[in-house]
Amino acid sequence: MSSSFLGQFPTLRPRRLRQTAALRRMVAETRLSADQLVLPLFVRTGTKIRQPVKSMPGVFQLSLDETLKEAIQAHTQGVPAVLLFGIPDKKDAKASGAYAANGIVQKAVRLLKKELPTLIVITDVCLCEYMEHGHCGIVHQHAKGARILNDPSLKLLAQTAASHAEAGADIVAPSDMMDGRVRAIRERLDKDGFEDTPILSYAAKFASGFYGPFRDAAESTPKFGDRRSYQMDAPNANEALREVALDIQEGADMIMVKPALAYLDILYRVKAEFGYPTAAYAVSGEYSMVKAAAANGWIDERAVTMEMLLAMRRAGADIIITYSATQVAQWLGEK
Ligand code: PBG
Repeated sequence: MSSSFLGQFPTLRPRRLRQTAALRRMVAETRLSADQLVLPLFVRTGTKIRQPVKSMPGVFQLSLDETLKEAIQAHTQGVPAVLLFGIPDKKDAKASGAYAANGIVQKAVRLLKKELPTLIVITDVCLCEYMEHGHCGIVHQHAKGARILNDPSLKLLAQTAASHAEAGADIVAPSDMMDGRVRAIRERLDKDGFEDTPILSYAAKFASGFYGPFRDAAESTPKFGDRRSYQMDAPNANEALREVALDIQEGADMIMVKPALAYLDILYRVKAEFGYPTAAYAVSGEYSMVKAAAANGWIDERAVTMEMLLAMRRAGADIIITYSATQVAQWLGEK
C-alpha cells in the first residue's frame, strides 16, 4: 500500500478502534499462534539428567527420557515442532558422532517419532558439536593458521542429514554455512530414498555475539579462531538475499534468518523478495537477555517476549524458533 493511498483516506480518530481489548483483537494485523513455534532441545546421553544451562535459565541439557518429557509438555501446550541439537560423549576431527547410526540425535529422533508421532521433529545438521575443535567444518592446519575446508565438509554434512532422515527426522536443518551444502544434502537425501524430507536451511545466518549462551548449552565453542570465515558479516543485507537465493536454487524448502531481533530488516526483505516459508531463530542471547532483565525486575518477561515474537511475525516470519516456545504457547492458551 503506497503512502499516497493512505493519505487519501485520513482517519481522524485512530483511537476509535483501540477502545477495548475485543476491538483491538479484531483489528490486529498480525497474530501469533502456537502453531508457528519450534522448541529447540539439547540432547545428551544418560538417564534422568536435567543439567541446567547456566546462561539460559529454564533451558537444560536433557537425557533421552527427559527430552521426551520436555517434548510431551511442549506438544501438549500446542507446540507442533522441536529442533534437536546433540551433545555427544566423544568428539573427534571428523565429527563421527554427527552421522553415527546410533548417535545421540538419531536415538532421540527415533524415540520422539515413536512416542509422539504427531510431533514434527527437526534436526540441526552441523558438525561443530561433534568436532574436537568446535568448528562447523573440517579444519586444515597450515603454516599461517587454520582453514575451514568447504567441499570436504559437504560430504560429512550430507551424511549427517541422511542419518537423521534414516532415523525418521521430519525436516533437516543445516546450520553450518558451508557453500553448496543444501545441494549436497538434497542430492544425498534423494539418492538414499528420502525425496520427501524437506530442508529448512539456515540461509542467512550471521556471525553473532548473540550465540554466546548457546555455546554453553551445546558445548560447541570453537577452540581457536571464530566462525567469521563462514557465517555472514553483520553489515551485509544484500548478501543475505543472495545467500537465500542460492539456498533456494539448491533446493531449500524453507529458509531461516538468524538471529532474529537484530536482523528484522533481513527477515522483512527475505520474505518480501522470495515469499518462501520463512523461519526466524530467536537465539540464545535474545532469550538470556530477557531472562536476566526479568530476573532483576527491570522488564516484564511476558510482555517483552510476546512483543519480540510479534515483531518477528510482523517482519515476515512464518515460523519462530524460540527457547520460550512452551511458555509462550501456554500464555497464548490462557487469554
Ligand atoms: C551450530 C548452531 C549454533 C546455533 C544454532 N546452530 C551456534 C553457532 O553457530 O555458533 C546458535 C543458536 C543460538 O544461539 O540459540 N552451528
